[in-house]
Amino acid sequence: AGSLDGAASRSGRRFGSAISWNGGTTGGSIQNPRYADVVKAECGLLVPENEMKWQFTRPSPDVYDFARMDAIAEFARTNGKALRGHTLLWHRPRWFPDWLNNYDYGANPAREAERLLTDHIRTVTDRYRGQIASYDVVNEAIDHDRNATIETSMSRAMGSPEAVMDLAFHTAREQLPDGELVYNDYMSWEPAHAAHCNDVLRLLEGFRKRNVPVDALGIQSHIEIYSVDPATGVGPYREREWRDFIDEVVGMGYKLLITEFDVKDKALPSAVALRDEKVADYTRRYFDVMLDYAELSDILAWGMVDQFNWLQGFAPRDDGMEVRGTPYSSTYQPKPMREALAASL
Ligand code: XIL
Repeated sequence: AGSLDGAASRSGRRFGSAISWNGGTTGGSIQNPRYADVVKAECGLLVPENEMKWQFTRPSPDVYDFARMDAIAEFARTNGKALRGHTLLWHRPRWFPDWLNNYDYGANPAREAERLLTDHIRTVTDRYRGQIASYDVVNEAIDHDRNATIETSMSRAMGSPEAVMDLAFHTAREQLPDGELVYNDYMSWEPAHAAHCNDVLRLLEGFRKRNVPVDALGIQSHIEIYSVDPATGVGPYREREWRDFIDEVVGMGYKLLITEFDVKDKALPSAVALRDEKVADYTRRYFDVMLDYAELSDILAWGMVDQFNWLQGFAPRDDGMEVRGTPYSSTYQPKPMREALAASL
């Protein structure tokens, strides 16, 4: 049987996954041979789960540390896999390194913030020049409870979150004239995300109005089976509202990527076989919609094996069982979700 990347390639797309470095552990990492085997067999494209984030690459203002990211880049090269960048700026204080949250921007804060940011983007993109051509330049910049973009130490120094984002994209474009520059966020078809979808549309409109070079919207796709319809055992999907959202995005000329796909199965009952089937159904419904869009190119899972998937910590089940939201079980067996993907792609 062909690989998931092979299936995706039939429509000119690529399939891939997040992978991590995880020194000394046996996680979803390049150091876990069984995990690496799944990735080698199924993926054409990789993305670092954490290793390109500021906490990892920039331990202090003028020190860079690329040891872990380099190891992932080397793994990708050795195995003939393409690589995406995630992320040049995760625009939330929670994901800033402490030193950046507490940074003293000095007498000319705007200039100092610009220096920190442009230096970062130039250093990272220079280092992986020739290997990484597609970047999540800005990640998650919206606070949907306030219907506003998020303030950080940097945005206060520069005057607004938009000033920071615009500079990030302009700098990335100077660095990579032919690169793919992505704004990445987690909005989805859940009712609870409706406000977030609207906020993203306003942000994307603003980029266009100000002529900011953003090529694509990265749709993270940590989708959630947020309620269970007793008749079908799954859903609902809010497909109409979701299509309206995507139509507006592509209508503004943006391309699309699925950057971090996995499925939260909290609302489903415990029984594993049934749960796997419903997760596969949900996956199929989601991809049926997404693959209608010719604007969609890369498709990445946020990990290939349940055991190492971040949802175990982020969206744990009430029954204490493992979340089964990735294509492979913790014993490295393909699950119905894998078959759903293979059939849909
Ligand atoms: C997550 C990683 O999977 C975790 O290991 C880490 O602790 C936090 O970040 N949106 C993103 C990703 O853009 O970077 C996040 O990754 C998941 C949500």
